[in-house]
Amino acid sequence: MSGSLIVVGTGIGFARITLEARAAISAADEVLYLVADPVSATAVEALNPRARSLDDLYEEGAPHRDAYERMTEAILEPVRAGKRVCAAFYGHPGVFVLPSHQAISRARSEGFDATMLPGVSAEDCLVADLGVDPAVNGLQSYEASDFLRRRPAIEPTTALVLWQIGVVGARTYSARGSAPALGQLVELLLERYPAGHGTVVYEASSYPGIPPLVREVGLGALSADAVTPASTLYVPPIPR
Ligand SMILES: C[S@@+](CC[C@H](N)C(=O)[O-])C[C@H]1O[C@@H](n2cnc3c(N)ncnc32)[C@H](O)[C@@H]1O
Repeated sequence: MSGSLIVVGTGIGFARITLEARAAISAADEVLYLVADPVSATAVEALNPRARSLDDLYEEGAPHRDAYERMTEAILEPVRAGKRVCAAFYGHPGVFVLPSHQAISRARSEGFDATMLPGVSAEDCLVADLGVDPAVNGLQSYEASDFLRRRPAIEPTTALVLWQIGVVGARTYSARGSAPALGQLVELLLERYPAGHGTVVYEASSYPGIPPLVREVGLGALSADAVTPASTLYVPPIPR
């Protein structure tokens, strides 16, 4: 039998997993998963007893890319051995998940079938929890470290979402997270927004019935103690 790969998302919190992702996890010969909460881990293992976590491939103090390379190869090894493999990542598996894209592209280049199914991302939850409709003013969405490095032109009358602000500027993995460049990020934003502009440090809830964390902070007052590795920053549009 020739191997294959299907990459799925488990959503932000397992209650948000899709029916097709559940079915793919259950049907696989091998499942490799990376999730952000213990309930999701237990649920993936309940769907498929052959499921194994990729979490221990992170190494404290080592570059993120090293861990992503190890994850990619851990996913591809059973594919090359002829297994039907499912890789499950929390949220949407294609949104800010390098090993999922790497594994699919390498698998295809080696002649294996490889597909991705969508999942419910943190930005999807933000749209619901904060009542943001991209139809009204548009939506700009960037990874925070990349935003700082490339300094893309932004439109302040359009809403802005910055991902991974809790690890902005961090070159290596740390389980607790650190945001050494948060001050620089704020300085950059202050070139386009007033210091008193209200922003939201947002964390979607992973559990039904538990509300999201919505911390309103004036842009000029945004500091590292307001953020965690799971935080996403929402900068509302300046009224036209
Ligand atoms: C490696 S990315 C994974 C994103 C994930 N694949 C998704 O679809 O949402 C991690 C970043 O996603 C965002 N994120 C993850 N969990 C979140 C949550 N519960 N609430 C808000 N943002 C979250 C944060 O910006 C975090 O730094």
